[in-house]
Amino acid sequence: NVIYRADYQPPAYWIDTVELCFDLDPAKTRVLNRMKLRRNAQMPAQPLRLDGEELNLARVLVNGQGTSFKMENGQLVLENLPAGDEPFELEIFSTCAPAKNTTLSGLYTSGDSFFTQCEAEGFRRITYFLDRPDVMASYTVLIRADKARYPVLLSNGNLVDQGELDDGRHFAKWVDPHRKPSYLFALVAGQLVAREQRITSRAGKEHLLQVYVRPGDLDKTEHAMNSLMASVAWDEARFGLPLDLERFMIVATSDFNMGAMENKGLNIFNTKYVLASQATATDTDFFNIESVVGHEYFHNWTGNRITCRDWFQLSLKEGLTVFRDQEFSMDLAGEASARAVKRIEDVRVLRTMQFPEDAGPMAHPVRPEQYLEINNFYTVTVYEKGAEVVRMMQTLVGREGFRRGMDQYFQRHDGQAVTCDDFSQAIADANPGSRLAQTLEQFRRWYSQAGTPRVKAEGRWDADSGIYSLTLSQSCPPTPDQPAKDPFVIPIGLGLISGGVEIANGMHVLTEQSETLTFPGLQSEPVPSILRGFSAPVVLEFDYPDEQLLALLAHDADPFNRWEAGQRLALGRALAYLRTPGLARSDIRLDAPFVEAMRGILRHPTLDPAFKELVLTLPAETYISEQLDTVDPQRVHMVRDAMREQLAQALFHDWEWAFEQHRENGAYRPDPRSSGRRALAGLSLMHLCIAARKSGDTVWPGKTLQRFKDASNMTDRFNALTALVVSGHELAAPALARFHATFQDDALVLDKWFALQAGAPDRGGNILPIVKQLMNHPDFNIRNPNRARSLIFSYCNANPGAFHRPDAAGYVFWSERVTELDAFNPQVAARLARALDRWKKLEEPLRSAAREAIARVAAKPDLSNDVREVVTRALAD
Ligand code: ARG
Ligand code: ZN
Repeated sequence: NVIYRADYQPPAYWIDTVELCFDLDPAKTRVLNRMKLRRNAQMPAQPLRLDGEELNLARVLVNGQGTSFKMENGQLVLENLPAGDEPFELEIFSTCAPAKNTTLSGLYTSGDSFFTQCEAEGFRRITYFLDRPDVMASYTVLIRADKARYPVLLSNGNLVDQGELDDGRHFAKWVDPHRKPSYLFALVAGQLVAREQRITSRAGKEHLLQVYVRPGDLDKTEHAMNSLMASVAWDEARFGLPLDLERFMIVATSDFNMGAMENKGLNIFNTKYVLASQATATDTDFFNIESVVGHEYFHNWTGNRITCRDWFQLSLKEGLTVFRDQEFSMDLAGEASARAVKRIEDVRVLRTMQFPEDAGPMAHPVRPEQYLEINNFYTVTVYEKGAEVVRMMQTLVGREGFRRGMDQYFQRHDGQAVTCDDFSQAIADANPGSRLAQTLEQFRRWYSQAGTPRVKAEGRWDADSGIYSLTLSQSCPPTPDQPAKDPFVIPIGLGLISGGVEIANGMHVLTEQSETLTFPGLQSEPVPSILRGFSAPVVLEFDYPDEQLLALLAHDADPFNRWEAGQRLALGRALAYLRTPGLARSDIRLDAPFVEAMRGILRHPTLDPAFKELVLTLPAETYISEQLDTVDPQRVHMVRDAMREQLAQALFHDWEWAFEQHRENGAYRPDPRSSGRRALAGLSLMHLCIAARKSGDTVWPGKTLQRFKDASNMTDRFNALTALVVSGHELAAPALARFHATFQDDALVLDKWFALQAGAPDRGGNILPIVKQLMNHPDFNIRNPNRARSLIFSYCNANPGAFHRPDAAGYVFWSERVTELDAFNPQVAARLARALDRWKKLEEPLRSAAREAIARVAAKPDLSNDVREVVTRALAD
């Protein structure tokens, strides 16, 4: 049952209208579904096949009459439908069991409320339907439920009627004025309260914005509401896209598989991306809320008004909408330096998560060719790499050209279900003569070829002629099913620096396998600043001598490459240590030029604190590991940990200075400036505690504990706690206990408490026993995805130094949890299953142990498609 992109066929029937009537009951919800259908004249006559899953079918009527039907491969098949192109009515009555729905796909209960999640294929768990995005219908929804238990009844669109029924029940009727695919359907019912805000759009239209949460959480919704208002204003200002609904609702639930969902007019969110107060949420939480609220809101146009023809086109809406939310965050950040910080953070996600995905067994093009379970393809490749592809289009046509292209896209395709090719065509057509238009067919390889391209750069300086030449060559490693690749279109931001002065700055579009650029008339050999702004999602290989990197770190006008120079300096050192046979921890001694360069950044008089924090954070263990052919994750951890310790000791007084300079930040506001200051204060404290661990000093751990206790916001409090935990100080245990006692009633804060302990540096194999112990903690509940992620994923997916144990106990734990989760929530299980994606790179004996663990999972008889696809791909050669 693998699905191939090449097999796409338009639907044999259209569904024009849907009338749904729900009688909500946790044990047995009754769903009456009345549809108007007609044959698609473009397709040969054939039976109607409706998707359905875990439904109890009671009755099927065609034009009010009983009819024959059969079940085939889980589909409801109707063969005796009226002939001809006339519309006909189909009425289906079925029931489902929301309280037993542990998959959190379809209609389910969380606490005492009802929620839905229909993307990608959850609607078929609610009623029989053509559950595919190219079938767009008008929905009318009647909800009936007990009024005391479910006072709030919500669905998409406008509330047109509500009232009382017998037996303490009531009803609400919703009509969605926009046609939509079934994956955008939503229903919510429960005891909820809303923060409300009325706004007037630029065009003078009135809208009601609502953020629904459980009673008691209302005081944590201000930031989400502000983010929503900012999103509405931004999309109008930047893209001319207004809110097309009278009412726009966000509802938060604590049981959610993903981040959030853009259901038309009724977004459903993980509480993690809604609830925030200065006492309970960190700066990062505040920024994530802003970006996810924006993301879901922007889907209203890129995803909902124009949707995907089929799920292979997922990046059409996700890549574009991630690009839009990134731009939104950057525009809100304001200043150039804050924009750069956001860009660096986005690139860091891409390189630490997407590059490994693109090099592993789950590698797939931005537009995949095949899948067994579509939920496995909501990936960093489709989302983040997809956003980079859209960003390259903007680079190739310019910012205004991109706006023209978006206008063209909406003019052509509003109300349609389309493909990635339709999008790039619209952008190119609106910009004839642009580099995108000239290279469109070749550019589209970004959608069809998987793998991270490499660009090798080689510089040649000819002192006699004063000519500097730079040769750029591209290649792309093989990926599953794609042994050989054709050249990509790669925009390469390029600057030349000579004597600390920038002498050239531009964009080169690399289209050939290899090209040489020449720069005549130079006095001395320049330092090239290549791939400025990370202008393409590639690996840049250039043998930078240290002096050149130090020069870029000191002078590059491009903040991304300035940061990158520091990362390269650190990475080069880490790799040299890792390649030294028999290296002991005590052999790791950072050289003076590197230490002095880091000191120079930390003490720099004008650089942004947020930028300093990024430069002074060493490359992630996963990123370092990606550069190696075979990996011992514990050794990688040891090297990075020792390097950090050296920075802690060598810069001790500088960290003290930095902490004192940035510790006080006035009244809490989660803006880029003050959050950057808090981030640098936090990083300083961490290094001070690490240095103290070495020297036996107790002053800084004591001050850290005090700051932990006195903090007026969660960022400072959690950073202090993290410093104690990471440095392994004995004060960590009482601080953790105190933290738990203070926040035991706040689920999102408890998630942090679990995650911190599961992600802490391993000391003699202590983390796995702690994780196992925490599995038995009364606050642990594996059925709640946030909680499962905070403990199990923080260990297996995010703590390589602790997870990859030579005794393989981490892998045994992993395989047990994958199977345990798979029995009730395949989507979450499949995400965990990916923790061993890169097993082939592991050094023995880890490699064999990991393969055994994967094989053990693969051998289980009743695996979901989700987990089966991940483990089968992992084991394939
Ligand atoms: N469209 C949602 C978003 O990007 C993600 C929903 C994915 N859900 C899933 N079960 N695959 O915001
Ligand atoms: Zn999305």
